[in-house]
Amino acid sequence: MSENNRVLILGATSSIAEHWARGRAEAGDHLLLVGRSKDKLDPIATDLTARGAKSVDVFVTDLADLEDQDRRFGKMVEALGGLDLVLLAYGELGDQERGQADAGFLRRILVNNFTSAAIWAELAAGELERRGKGSLVVLSSVAGDRGRRIGYSYGAAKGGLTRYVEGLAHRFAGSKVHVLCVKPGPVDTPMTAHMQKGGPLWSTPEKVAADIEAAIAKRKVVIYTPWFWWGIMMIIRHLPRIIFNKMNI
Ligand SMILES: NC(=O)c1ccc[n+]([C@@H]2O[C@H](COP(=O)([O-])OP(=O)(O)OC[C@H]3O[C@@H](n4cnc5c(N)ncnc54)[C@H](OP(=O)(O)O)[C@@H]3O)[C@@H](O)[C@H]2O)c1
Repeated sequence: MSENNRVLILGATSSIAEHWARGRAEAGDHLLLVGRSKDKLDPIATDLTARGAKSVDVFVTDLADLEDQDRRFGKMVEALGGLDLVLLAYGELGDQERGQADAGFLRRILVNNFTSAAIWAELAAGELERRGKGSLVVLSSVAGDRGRRIGYSYGAAKGGLTRYVEGLAHRFAGSKVHVLCVKPGPVDTPMTAHMQKGGPLWSTPEKVAADIEAAIAKRKVVIYTPWFWWGIMMIIRHLPRIIFNKMNI
C-alpha cells in the first residue's frame, strides 16, 4: 500500500485497531474511525492527527445494529471520499455461561461477532470490487478454529466469520482486491482485562498490529498472530475427541 490511502476502521476504539491505525497515521493516510462512543473516538482521532494522518474523521454508530447497514456504509464511504483499505476490528467476547442461560445475550454475541460483521465485510468487499482494488482486513480469532466448552458462542461466531472471509478471499483470488483474515491468539487488551495474563502464549496489540501490516504488504489471505498459533491450533483441531473431551479448554 502506498501513502494517502483512504482507510475505514470499523471498531476504531479497539486496542488492536488503535495500534494499527498509528502506523497508518504515520504513513499519512486519510482515516475514518467508526465506533459507538464519540467520547472514546475523539481522543483517538486527536492522537492520530498528531501522528501525521492526512485527515481523521469519526463516525458514531452501533456496528451490531442490523438496520440500514448499506445506507450507513454508503455514508462512511462518502465521508472518506472513497475507499482503499478497511479494517474490521470490533467484537465482543461475551460470557459463555450467560449465553447458555439467556437467549437475548446469546443473540447479541452472535449478531455482534458474526451477522453484522459478515454484512459489513460483504459491503466493503463490494465497494472495493467496484473500485477494482484495495484491501479488506477482518479480525477473527483462533477461538473460531474448534468449538470448545469454555467459549463456543464467541468461537462459533468467529468461526463463521472466518468461513465468510475465506469465501470472500476465494471470490477475489487473482484480482486486485485483497482479503485477509487475521486470527490472533490471546492479546493483552481491554477485551481480556478479566483474565490472568502473562506467559509466552500472550501477545500485545503492538505485535498484532505489526503482523497485520506485514500481512497486508505481502497480500496474505490468512494469518495467525503470533505465528506459532498456527501450530497450536493445528494440534487442537486434530486432537481425537477422546482426548479433547478430557481437556478444559
Ligand atoms: N484480545 C484478544 O485476546 C483477541 C484475540 C483474538 C481476537 N480478538 C479480536 O480482535 C478484535 C479487536 O479486539 P481487541 O483485542 O482490540 O479488544 P478491545 O480493545 O476490547 O476492542 C473491542 C472493541 O470492539 C468495540 N465494539 C464491540 N461491539 C461494538 C459495536 N456493536 N459497535 C461498535 N464497536 C463495538 C468495542 O467498543 P467499546 O469500547 O465502545 O465497547 C471495543 O472498542 C475483536 O474482533 C476481537 O474479537 C481479540
